[in-house]
Amino acid sequence: MFKLKKLVAAALAGVMMAVAAGCGGGSADNTPAAGNGGGKRVGVAMPTQSSQRWIQDGANMKEKLEALGYQVDLQYAEDDVQAQVSQIENMITNGANCLVVASIDSSALVNALAQAKANNIPVIAYDRLLMDTDSVSYYATFDNKGVGTLIGKYVEKQLGLAEGKGPYNVEFFAGSPDDNNAHFLNDGLFEVLQKYIDNGQLVVPSKQTDFDTICTLRWSQETAQRRMEDLISGYYTDGKKLDAVISPFDGISYGIAAALEGAGYQVGKNWPLITGQDAELMATKNIISGKQTMSVFKDTRNLADKCVTMVQAVLEGKEPEINDTTSYNNHKLVVPSYLCTPVAVDKNNYQKELVDSGYYKADQLK
Ligand code: GAL
Repeated sequence: MFKLKKLVAAALAGVMMAVAAGCGGGSADNTPAAGNGGGKRVGVAMPTQSSQRWIQDGANMKEKLEALGYQVDLQYAEDDVQAQVSQIENMITNGANCLVVASIDSSALVNALAQAKANNIPVIAYDRLLMDTDSVSYYATFDNKGVGTLIGKYVEKQLGLAEGKGPYNVEFFAGSPDDNNAHFLNDGLFEVLQKYIDNGQLVVPSKQTDFDTICTLRWSQETAQRRMEDLISGYYTDGKKLDAVISPFDGISYGIAAALEGAGYQVGKNWPLITGQDAELMATKNIISGKQTMSVFKDTRNLADKCVTMVQAVLEGKEPEINDTTSYNNHKLVVPSYLCTPVAVDKNNYQKELVDSGYYKADQLK
């Protein structure tokens, strides 16, 4: 009886393997199953599921690549740098034909990516540039400096800075120092706002404006909350008004808002202008309720589309569409890039940009 069970199990496993090989497009002769991917394997390494955007990025990439007949190995490393290194090494061992990488620490993958190159596996940097490596073919991203410019211009307009209004008390937050995007964003932001700090229209009571002081490792909400708590208790206890907090990411904005709430600030009373990035679902709800003022919408559907065309091109030996060949020097090469366009959203245009565009359904925002 036992033997029979084992036999049946073995036969079943055989059938299942045959089905998997057939329907996944992964047959030995690489016959295309759906689309023209021919069952080639694409490893997609994503940083974390702790923020909504990366979950959407991963899901979009998987769906679009599978629709073209590729086999997708999607991995999240939960912001553990070493785990991401291991995941990439495993993808290489498991026969990946192409890698798409959104890094945690953009300089920490040099050795793993060198292995990819040694195995002739093309690598595409997704959203975050891969630094210090020549093992990267293309980069799909948003105009990261443009994100900072959008935030800066929004603040300039809302506060009437160009018309000479002020002085306003503001505090600044930046993103993760090991993420190239954080530096580009910060450059774009200060290019717009530095002059108003210099002429006194923007006052920073903490005097904290340099990147190394205002940065937030891993873009962490908790770290941002602690820093905001310290700023409130250190510089705003004498009743000094806080007019704006410049945040580079919705997750950081949540931390800032939590610290403000904890200190008794109230929306509609003494709540400051708060910026953000990614137009996450919660951030959009916060924009509607007034807890956050704006965010920068980066349509991950467009980013995934562009990235998928890059995967297809490298696997078919073709040139993908790129629109930037100068901005992204990773210390080894200037990586040919496609920059998608970010859009500032607030309570006046979220309906058009986020709902009418189908990014969110109206009832998700209730
Ligand atoms: C950056 C990205 C931002 C935000 C941040 C935190 O690399 O450009 O849009 O998502 O990571 O996840």
